[in-house]
Amino acid sequence: MGLDDREALEVLRAALDPENGSDALVREFYTRWFAIDTSARELFPPDMTGQRTAFAAALTYFLGEVIAQRADEPVAFLAQLGRDHRKYGVTQAHYDTMRQALGNSMRTHFADRWDTRLADAARDVVDLMIGIMRGAADAEKGPAYRDGTVVEHIRATRDVSVIRLQLDKPLYYHPGQYVTVQVPQWPRRWRFLSPSIPADRSGALEFHVRSVTGGMVSRAIVEETAPGDRWRVSSPHGAMHVDRDAGDVLMVAGSTGLAPLRTLIMDLTRYGVNPRVHLFYGGTFPCDLYDLPTLWQVASTNPWLSVTPVSEFATNPPWAGDYPDPEPPRGLHVRQSGTLPDVVTRYGNWGDRQILVCGGPAMVEATVAALVAKGADPDRIQHDPLTG
Ligand SMILES: Cc1cc2nc3c(=O)[nH]c(=O)nc-3n(C[C@H](O)[C@H](O)[C@H](O)COP(=O)(O)OP(=O)(O)OC[C@H]3O[C@@H](n4cnc5c(N)ncnc54)[C@H](O)[C@@H]3O)c2cc1C
Ligand code: HEM
Repeated sequence: MGLDDREALEVLRAALDPENGSDALVREFYTRWFAIDTSARELFPPDMTGQRTAFAAALTYFLGEVIAQRADEPVAFLAQLGRDHRKYGVTQAHYDTMRQALGNSMRTHFADRWDTRLADAARDVVDLMIGIMRGAADAEKGPAYRDGTVVEHIRATRDVSVIRLQLDKPLYYHPGQYVTVQVPQWPRRWRFLSPSIPADRSGALEFHVRSVTGGMVSRAIVEETAPGDRWRVSSPHGAMHVDRDAGDVLMVAGSTGLAPLRTLIMDLTRYGVNPRVHLFYGGTFPCDLYDLPTLWQVASTNPWLSVTPVSEFATNPPWAGDYPDPEPPRGLHVRQSGTLPDVVTRYGNWGDRQILVCGGPAMVEATVAALVAKGADPDRIQHDPLTG
């Protein structure tokens, strides 16, 4: 029966699903795996909480798709995961020890419920997942990552840095996509960042990074990055895009959420005719709107682009003078005071627009909720995943 045994697959799924609140099986698996393969342990961060949830969620999703007898999306998902895993230094031998540890953990976990049906289903599903991931990784001829050197670090505001890199070889990504990045201050702690310029043939790359409270990697980037640092960049993901044939566009950017929207805008400047794009760009204080001068320049030569600066407070804090003045010459819309969801919905319901929202998770959720409540079509709202 194996992969056709829906009942057995359901039992496995129920034991793995993080939504059921128990991660006993996954915990058991990692303990066994690391006991028989210390080289696998070395690839993971010390705290495995997030990893256990991500792994269990991937298995639960895949089991659900097999039960529903769907193939295309789960296979594409695992193939991408396999290609992405190359950047961690995963080898074929790791997959072998993993298969062994996962099989033994399931047998122990189910104890007296373990029978041939469960054993067959577990073996077949694990073999299938590993087969897809390994196969895709082997078939991928491109490099697992690109290395690059930091050439410039601009402290744009108290908590935002603009980092410019020169990659050894160019990296291709679509405008609006995000990539994973590893910095020398925190080896093996990959984080998502969104390039703030379109892919460049000479290998130039730029990121806008905000130091989040209690943030491990973002804080190190903003406080410690220096020219000469070597960064590693990998795996473009995401599908945020502007459909040039689907009508006018509303963009809402909170702080460094501007990065992918700025890339999309820069990409649009290649065309003579575009849909109208209205960008609301928000921060806490006026001085947080660090990229207004660039936006002003782009808007002044591209009549399809309007930019409305938004800040929660109308005046700057005393430390604003320590950073570059982001006030552009006249020409943009007058700066509005308030939060992004409030200000954006004050202008209307935007029901006729394709909408792209980008920023911290709380800002994205609040803005999307406010827009939908005002009448925007949820199917026409795009945003990136809210967590990494
Ligand atoms: C698709 C995507 C694209 C991203 N693009 C960018 C980008 O271009 N520029 C950029 O600066 N960041 C971006 N991020 C966020 C980035 O990947 C990190 O999550 C962020 O820098 C925090 O990492 P950290 O190691 O400093 O924090 P961690 O040590 O991982 O977390 C510390 C604390 O900060 C909280 N936290 C994590 N992320 C955020 C956040 N975004 N806002 C507020 N609190 C947070 C966590 O919940 C936790 O409590 C993106 C995230 C995603 C999912
Ligand atoms: C069925 C096979 C596997 C599945 C479904 C799986 C799933 C996942 C998922 C969902 C993530 C988080 C998303 C990501 O960062 O890409 C992840 C991360 C990771 N996986 Fe796997 N994985 C598998 C096999 C392996 C193997 C064989 C190794 C070898 C050591 C491995 C090592 C890692 C590492 C090092 C990370 C990053 C952890 C971090 O930095 O936080 N995985 N895996």
